[in-house]
Amino acid sequence: MFEIVQRFADQGYQLDPKALELIKSHPAKEELIKSLLSNLDLAVSVIDSSHISNLGQSSLAPTGIKSTLFFDSKNNQESLDHCTPYTLAGTAKLNQDIEIGADITGRSTCTGEYNDFVRYFRDRYAKLREILANRLSARPMESLRRNTAGREVTIIGMVMDVKTTHKGNRIVELEDPTGMVTALIQKDSEIFEKSSFILPDEVLGVTGMSDGNGRIFVKNLIWPDVPNQNQILENGRGYALLLSDLHVGSKFFMEEAWLRFVSWLNGDVDDPSGLASQVDHIVVAGDVADGIGIYPGQESDLAIKDIYEQYQKAAECFNSIRQGINIVISPGNHDIVRQAEPQPALPETVCKFFRSDFTFVGNPTRICLGGIPFLIYHGRSIDDFVLRIPGLSYASPEKAMVEMLRRRHLSPIYGSRVSIAPEQEDHYVISRLPAILHCGHVHTVGIARYKGVAVINSGTWQAQTEFQKKMNIHPTPAAVPIVDLATMKVRKLLFA
Ligand SMILES: [Fe+2]
Repeated sequence: MFEIVQRFADQGYQLDPKALELIKSHPAKEELIKSLLSNLDLAVSVIDSSHISNLGQSSLAPTGIKSTLFFDSKNNQESLDHCTPYTLAGTAKLNQDIEIGADITGRSTCTGEYNDFVRYFRDRYAKLREILANRLSARPMESLRRNTAGREVTIIGMVMDVKTTHKGNRIVELEDPTGMVTALIQKDSEIFEKSSFILPDEVLGVTGMSDGNGRIFVKNLIWPDVPNQNQILENGRGYALLLSDLHVGSKFFMEEAWLRFVSWLNGDVDDPSGLASQVDHIVVAGDVADGIGIYPGQESDLAIKDIYEQYQKAAECFNSIRQGINIVISPGNHDIVRQAEPQPALPETVCKFFRSDFTFVGNPTRICLGGIPFLIYHGRSIDDFVLRIPGLSYASPEKAMVEMLRRRHLSPIYGSRVSIAPEQEDHYVISRLPAILHCGHVHTVGIARYKGVAVINSGTWQAQTEFQKKMNIHPTPAAVPIVDLATMKVRKLLFA
């Protein structure tokens, strides 16, 4: 019995007693265990009897395809298994080796009407509630006013407001589709420090003592988070280079370093590491060009003052890379697409400058490369995280990215630095866990591993600008993270 529990614990799952009994008494016990471990959603942390009966309706044969774990369809409409590659509107033809999901390109419907916002936030709440409900048994907020005085209760709410009183206590206003509650956190309580991480518009679980009148004295705060897991992906292959923030057209674009990088990649220089020839994929997380009028006084920082000429030059930079590498390009806030996020892929007016075998995707987007699921987001919300969460800074962007994973949301705060378009669904909820979360935007390389997810910020190819000096941003240019997709080991290559 202990061995069964341990096997699930090793993969980050707990078994409830009923599920354990069902497994123990099953005639094909071994097949059942293997099949469960191959098919469970990583958002699940406790396995109950329903997971076993659902599985029994399909097949007990092990699938052997480990990446399906990251895109399991149990809680999601789109599953990588069933994700049919599609050609994104107005872009180059999609490479058939690449699968894409959750991309706004060609699918934007929002008009900015009141109902769009209501639907958008309901979708956010529903998706995040589903993740939390796997671990919490929460009650609707309206029920708190019925005979709950003095009882411990659990709710799942969206943060409407969070403030500190003049006495130093914290008050959080939370909402769910049935009502609102006020959560109170005393300044001398154990979780007061934890509560300084609460962000507006995020969804979290709260347990505490109800006063029977719509108030809770908080005992614990539970974020959606990533379950503990040490899953090893067995079908990853090849190497991927992660890039972002070239800012071609800026006076500070480091063209010489870029040429050194391309010479290395093309095998034109000695490569004792032997890595260059093994690169199969390049992912670019936005800010390919510097753009026009993005920040005050930008004009004096520009070497190329025409936006189309900036992209012609960028295409020149990329087109010289050897054939045979999948090159995937996603936009950022400097690129020639709408500023409101999620952003569609670069338009045909500039894609046409690039080779026809490139793949252009939106921001954010999920993509499967070399058998490994990536979540690509330019990372504008890192500005919000750094501003609001104590201890975060631009020097360590990976810490802000870990906060995205803890919240299972790429950009929780509405109405701050990130302009979010209320689309039919919230594209920022991390329903399916990626193996790699890739961002850029802040121009500093940051690499971390969080509960099995590789968290990588890919730096820049732009030297420090005057604007960045004023903002106290110290870039780490021409440093390229490279991921071995078979082992998920990450290294940093320097071309400065
Ligand atoms: Fe940038």
